[in-house]
Amino acid sequence: MTAPAFAHAAEIERSLELMAERCEDPAPLVYGRVFAAHPQVEAQFWRDTNGTIRGEMLARTFSAILDFVGDRLYADHLIKTEVITHEGYEVPREVFSTFFGFVAEAVREVLGPDWTPATETAWREMLAEIQRYLDATPRVGAPA
Ligand code: HEM
Repeated sequence: MTAPAFAHAAEIERSLELMAERCEDPAPLVYGRVFAAHPQVEAQFWRDTNGTIRGEMLARTFSAILDFVGDRLYADHLIKTEVITHEGYEVPREVFSTFFGFVAEAVREVLGPDWTPATETAWREMLAEIQRYLDATPRVGAPA
């Protein structure tokens, strides 16, 4: 087995496992925060009449996080390509990048006292590392 891509992978995995055990549907916890912070984006889900797209987007985000901290086979590329795709949905990358932080807040809420200082460190460092990938993604149409 190769080493995980991220030093605190086990802590991220533990927190997401607890989240999955304790919360059947984390979507309201995450999207409630997204829409409170960015009220304009709720209307951008107009095609999502039954929550399927929001559910799929969140599921893909959880999978991407697990891959990002583990084998990192695709998540770094996925994050970079989704930024561009979302600019096509008129979601600015500054908004896009906040999603992972709202996921972190939702996990913290569900874990309660099981969100330890080590969990906090792991998520903070992972969010910073994801942000570095986002910052390195060229803007479409920007001069090279
Ligand atoms: C606050 C940040 C974000 C907003 C406002 C947002 C917004 C949207 C919207 C409006 C759609 C639906 C487009 C349509 O009508 O088909 C969508 C789809 C999608 N988003 Fe996001 N997005 C955000 C962050 C992310 C992140 C971080 C990821 C994953 C890395 C992601 C992955 C996806 C995927 C995979 C879909 C397609 C889902 C499907 O239809 O199968 N999004 N997003």
